[in-house]
Amino acid sequence: MIYPLLLTLHLFAALVFIGTVFFEVLFLESIRRQLPAKVMVLLEQGISGRARQLMPWVLLVLFGAGGGMVWMRYWPVLIAPWQSSFGLLLGLKILLAGSVLGHFLWAMWLFRRGRMNARYVQVIHTRVFLHLVAIVLLAKGMFYINW
Ligand code: HEM
Repeated sequence: MIYPLLLTLHLFAALVFIGTVFFEVLFLESIRRQLPAKVMVLLEQGISGRARQLMPWVLLVLFGAGGGMVWMRYWPVLIAPWQSSFGLLLGLKILLAGSVLGHFLWAMWLFRRGRMNARYVQVIHTRVFLHLVAIVLLAKGMFYINW
């Protein structure tokens, strides 16, 4: 019963995280051209303030549940990633997830230092967006791609 619970938590946390990043990249970036700069600054301040409150918890659940699933079921394939396509794809997915976490910590650090600017926002959003596309493809691909 614990494994399905972890998987459901993982899926919900992934939904919130991926949904937020996709919204920021696919909606916010195009809305930017239609709104006055001052309104956009206020909007971004509101969104990033909320994201900084919520996302640490979402990431805790995402990584906690992911780690729990690996511990319960997948660590034998992960310690020998070259021996199965599943292990390799899961390993790659976890590496990319680690890089997403790195980007998140980098963004928090930039905010704390008051060094976050529009250029960093765009670079971090785009890179995390591409990471997430690859993570979702790997998360589903590891069950269907075999060699
Ligand atoms: C940015 C971080 C992550 C995202 C967006 C993400 C997303 C996903 C998604 C969408 C699935 C497919 C779930 C399904 O369709 O049922 C999945 C499965 C999985 N994830 Fe993650 N994940 C992330 C991080 C991690 C981490 C850090 C771990 C392990 C340490 C992990 C371990 C797993 C495992 C083991 C599965 C397969 C579960 C199963 O079906 O048995 N994930 N992940």
